Amino acid sequence: MSRPTDADRPPTETTSFGFREVSADARQGLVNEVFATVAERYDLMNDLMSAGLHRLWKEDLVTWLNPPRGSQPFRHLDVAGGTGDVALRVLAKSGAGVTAVICDISPEMLAVGRRKVADAGLGERIDLVEGNAEALPFAAKTFDAYTIAFGIRNVTHIDRALAEAYRVLKPGGRFLCLEFSHVDVPMLDRLYDFHSFEVIPRLGKLAAGAAEPYQYLVESIRRFPTQDAFAAMIRNAGFERVSYRNLTGGIAAIHSGWRL
Ligand SMILES: C[S@@+](CC[C@H](N)C(=O)[O-])C[C@H]1O[C@@H](n2cnc3c(N)ncnc32)[C@H](O)[C@@H]1O
Repeated sequence: MSRPTDADRPPTETTSFGFREVSADARQGLVNEVFATVAERYDLMNDLMSAGLHRLWKEDLVTWLNPPRGSQPFRHLDVAGGTGDVALRVLAKSGAGVTAVICDISPEMLAVGRRKVADAGLGERIDLVEGNAEALPFAAKTFDAYTIAFGIRNVTHIDRALAEAYRVLKPGGRFLCLEFSHVDVPMLDRLYDFHSFEVIPRLGKLAAGAAEPYQYLVESIRRFPTQDAFAAMIRNAGFERVSYRNLTGGIAAIHSGWRL
């Protein structure tokens, strides 16, 4: 795939919103409109668009995080946590000492997440906080783990979000990012292009009544840096032992790093 990614371009006053150029200041507002529009149908659309694969990828993320099973305290921060999928999975696989904070910029997504946390009876162990990944409302060195799933490509300044991840993690803390990535399997890339550009926006229109938000999602995926370029950005933020795993031929990838 030869489309340019954001990592290929010099920093400018403008940035990409899907394949459109918009001012860097305007981008976050446009992203917020997307998630305000899709919040109530987000979980359903995730299942439809990925044929349920996002569930397996999130399980892989939790397995790699390997939260403690015992009662020792462990603070997990899930940024761009939206409807709470990742934090709920982490708590389901962990011991009583694990608590989580879901931080997201969208009040609409958090409202759905709040309902799910209450339904799961986990209100005591999961907090939901409105905040921007680029300026987290948390003190330095307060979390044992930071996760971000399908969130970082929505952030305007990825380097600032990575710097914030580093800041809020305790020394010894773990950074894990699950994100759509770049397919590295011949033929799968063509199939994936067809699914992305022809199927997903139509599904979005049918199931959520709007194609544009899903067009943005597809385009933002293609703009995201390659696996190696993103690993380099994580290293630049100060993380060590940076590595990644491709999932489903690179449709998604999990990047890992440590604050040591
Ligand atoms: C594709 S959803 C992912 C939700 C969830 N992590 C999941 O995997 O199901 C992207 C989320 O990123 C949030 N988001 C976008 N920009 C953000 C920012 N700058 N700071 C925090 N959250 C942001 C959106 O509101 C949305 O909830």
